[in-house]
Amino acid sequence: MTGLTQAQLDTFDTEGMICVENFLSPQQTERLLEQSKQLLAQCDLSNHPKTTFKTSDEDHIGDRYFYESADKISYFFDTDAFDKDGNLTIELPKSINKIGHGLHIKDPLFKEVTFDNKVKDIAHDLKFTEPQVLQSMCIFKQPVDAKSTERDNAVPPHNDATFLYTSPQTAVGFWIALEDCTEENGCLSYIPGTHKTYPVSKRFVRKDGLKSGCTFEQLQKDKPVEGEYKMVPCKAGSLILIHNSVLHKSEKNRSNKSRYAYAFHVIDGVAEYDERNWLQVPYDGGSNFSRLF
Ligand code: FE2
Repeated sequence: MTGLTQAQLDTFDTEGMICVENFLSPQQTERLLEQSKQLLAQCDLSNHPKTTFKTSDEDHIGDRYFYESADKISYFFDTDAFDKDGNLTIELPKSINKIGHGLHIKDPLFKEVTFDNKVKDIAHDLKFTEPQVLQSMCIFKQPVDAKSTERDNAVPPHNDATFLYTSPQTAVGFWIALEDCTEENGCLSYIPGTHKTYPVSKRFVRKDGLKSGCTFEQLQKDKPVEGEYKMVPCKAGSLILIHNSVLHKSEKNRSNKSRYAYAFHVIDGVAEYDERNWLQVPYDGGSNFSRLF
């Protein structure tokens, strides 16, 4: 398979999300799943600031460990991972929400899949001029625990442009299922067409050049959300492409099977990526991200 068919491009244009099945071979998928488990096992809590993460949540705002992670393998925890005294409420590997945001730089296996020719072909078909990978992450949605208690791992409705803001908007998410995703274990869902009807009403920005951390800046009034969420269950090895402005979310994992994924985002270097974005390349303080081609 190379690139996208015209039918896939048309669906992406009208709906804002598509699922490409069998993007990775079962062997490739298995290797990446194993690698993500290895990374989980390597987490060292002894000098970790215990940064938690939740999309649209303000918990991580102001945490240097978070916004200096562009070129690192950094660990972010579920919001229910620690009790009020800072002790883990669950075993360490099962308490991690995501690892990022420089896997495409620091991890050879994730780097290989990110810069694979199949990815380049898709970026080409999506009409990127200067595609740049600005972040990558392993995302973990852990199953219910031994007592069948659900974990706090839902991702609330959002669009990615809020966090990866360019002028004009160019970000596209490449989201790869490393395990089967079902309605029970928290597959992605989206409202088709909202990338054309729902505004990017806020953006996540650095405050005073980071002195006061980061905050959400309201750009315009939020529009009431209309439409039904469409679930995107998929097999391991599937690629889901996510338009920067489409409203999407995922529910809690209510099953006893984990839901691991690898995701990275591509922006176009010809668009403006300003210094107010939370994510900056540490070594030049700017937006000199890894070129895809
Ligand atoms: Fe997202």
